[in-house]
Amino acid sequence: MSDPTNPNISKRSTEQWALYQRENFWKVNEGNWPPFNTDPRQLEQQAKEKLSQGGWFYASSNAGQSYTHLANRQAFFRHRIIPRQLVDTNLRDTTTEIFGHNVSAPIGFAPIGINKIYHNLAELPVAKVAGELNLPYCLSTAGSTPIEKVAAANGNGPRFFQLYMPHDDELTLSLLNRAWKSGFDALILTTDTWQLGWRHDDVAHSNYAFYRGIGADLGLSDPVFQKRCKEAGIDIEKDIVAASAKWIDSIWHGRAWSWEKIPWLIEQWKRISGGRPFAIKGIQSVADAKKCVDYGVDGIVVSNHAGRQVDGAIASLDALENIAEAVGDKIYIMYDSGVRGASDVVKALALGAKFVFVGRLWVWGLSVMGEEGVRHVMKSLLADLDILMGVAGFNSVKEFDRSIIESYPKSYSLIHERYGL
Ligand code: FNR
Repeated sequence: MSDPTNPNISKRSTEQWALYQRENFWKVNEGNWPPFNTDPRQLEQQAKEKLSQGGWFYASSNAGQSYTHLANRQAFFRHRIIPRQLVDTNLRDTTTEIFGHNVSAPIGFAPIGINKIYHNLAELPVAKVAGELNLPYCLSTAGSTPIEKVAAANGNGPRFFQLYMPHDDELTLSLLNRAWKSGFDALILTTDTWQLGWRHDDVAHSNYAFYRGIGADLGLSDPVFQKRCKEAGIDIEKDIVAASAKWIDSIWHGRAWSWEKIPWLIEQWKRISGGRPFAIKGIQSVADAKKCVDYGVDGIVVSNHAGRQVDGAIASLDALENIAEAVGDKIYIMYDSGVRGASDVVKALALGAKFVFVGRLWVWGLSVMGEEGVRHVMKSLLADLDILMGVAGFNSVKEFDRSIIESYPKSYSLIHERYGL
């Protein structure tokens, strides 16, 4: 199947991720069984069965009628990879560099808030597995574990902090300082979520854990936020619901920021971090991408938040194509939204992204089996990528450009139903 004594393995600069396939095929011989099926449709279904109703709704809800989510998935079908034959891929290399870190693959953990509703250990097992696999981990401001504890779990792994910026500069600075001191060495500001999109299932079930006093730990452990609670006469120990609500209402505050604030944030982050990278997540338009270049932003994440914010929006992958064409040589472009397998990663890279984040895939793994679940999902994705490169004739992730795909017109009406992922 996959010869573990293959002499090329020791010569590779990258781990032979492909051996994870063999490991799973071998399990029955040892009376074991692979943890679960990582086919995304089945994985999602297993997560649904495992989660509470609230956990499931929060993980699966999209904006409005889920049309943006559908578009995200459909866009991947429009591009097809052209395999090559008889290429010596024995020493292929999946690694890449992001913000000065050499990482195992151009794949990272997208920031996802409030992991507590998916698993009782919340962000900790996720950060741990990310560190172990040397894949960047991005912690959300809406995370349900103190920043410092997440850092400890992540160990020496590369890690970034995703900011939801409060309308309270002192609080923002406190978060940035905590993140920097804890080794989060790039800042990613999310700009598409001043407020959660209109998500029917969550609204219909009053599904908002923070208002039940669950998941605000990152904020409740902040000294400036603690001061704010005191000023407002809220005792965190006695009234967790009021404190948690106050926290999340200062994060998803429903009050937009505008471009004028960006120079201040860049200046503060650069001062605190000694010049480390600053990126904006949620960019979909070419005009905004150009503005990022003008404002001196180091990177952008072309993302529509997995289709959870604006219903009926363009596919994030289509946005990537437009943006990469316009500013691909001027700014570091990352991508997310709708990635469900290695071929999707390859397509996004081919269309101009330098790096790809995955969200729901690891949330489902966490939901199904905690730490082991996240590890299984991400090792499977790495193996999927390694094998794809091996069998399709690619030696380096740098080879993924427009020449390796064939793209078809945007005939999305061909796929008419909600693609259940
Ligand atoms: C998110 N996302 C998100 N983004 C962010 O900047 N901060 C956050 O706290 C969250 N929280 C969050 C929760 C859940 C349940 C989901 C599904 C998504 C968006 C996330 O970072 C990323 O953009 C998408 O999840 C990527 O799309 P896929 O891979 O999930 O399809």
